[in-house]
Amino acid sequence: MTIKNTAINDYEKALSWEIFDKIYHRYDTINTILSAGILRSWRKKLVTAFPLTPNMVALDCATGTGEVIVSVMKNHHHSIKAYTGIDLSKNMMAIGQKRFKKMSYNNKVKFVHASATKIPYQDKTFNCVTMAFGIRNIVEYQTCLQDIYRVLADQGTVMIMEFSLPSVAPLRWLYLAYFRFVLPMIGGLLSGDKKAYSYLNKTVESFPYGEAFKKELEKVGFKVTMKPLTFGIATLYIGKK
Ligand SMILES: C[S@@+](CC[C@H](N)C(=O)[O-])C[C@H]1O[C@@H](n2cnc3c(N)ncnc32)[C@H](O)[C@@H]1O
Repeated sequence: MTIKNTAINDYEKALSWEIFDKIYHRYDTINTILSAGILRSWRKKLVTAFPLTPNMVALDCATGTGEVIVSVMKNHHHSIKAYTGIDLSKNMMAIGQKRFKKMSYNNKVKFVHASATKIPYQDKTFNCVTMAFGIRNIVEYQTCLQDIYRVLADQGTVMIMEFSLPSVAPLRWLYLAYFRFVLPMIGGLLSGDKKAYSYLNKTVESFPYGEAFKKELEKVGFKVTMKPLTFGIATLYIGKK
């Protein structure tokens, strides 16, 4: 089910990376505060479900500050040969690059300035593609899903984690109230950019989730399973090529 909210237009969405490029220095701290640590538990679910075969070659789309790569590498760096993060915000990726400098597996990780709708790699390059809280920021998200399918090797896995809306009505109302009013206020104060955090709820409310997003992945060719996280506040979609 999709809840329509026309308050965000495609132009605004296409330039979303500029918002992240401005708030990059506070992005991770604000996320931790606003999510009360729940984000960390969601990333753990992704790490647990991450497919492990020797010499994995992985890609993280809309990588931002590389949070997903950090979490996966901390746990699985022995099985991973290379992990590349792509994003349109150079400032966000610079934070990620800096974090890895201190780690022993720094040489396995790289950040590349590129759009997730035009992935600059050949067909069947990766065994796994991850994308957390990125797909809803992309106007041409079907193009992005097709491109992910293209760069995945046969039997490869895509893991997409994205906000969704709880199916139980009172919970959904509470969550929407938090997203529409509390989060833009606190996020705005902490980041100094109110627009950045009112943007968040608009993209969440207007993007397909649950069965609707599962169908989008199936259209591209994936066999999909879904894991609702914390009463359906977010969902982890796992697709097999
Ligand atoms: C909410 S952040 C998520 C970052 C990270 N994946 C995480 O879990 O913290 C969304 C990211 O998507 C990036 N982005 C927006 N449009 C993009 C595009 N077309 N291609 C690649 N990255 C994009 C933004 O620059 C931003 O870093």
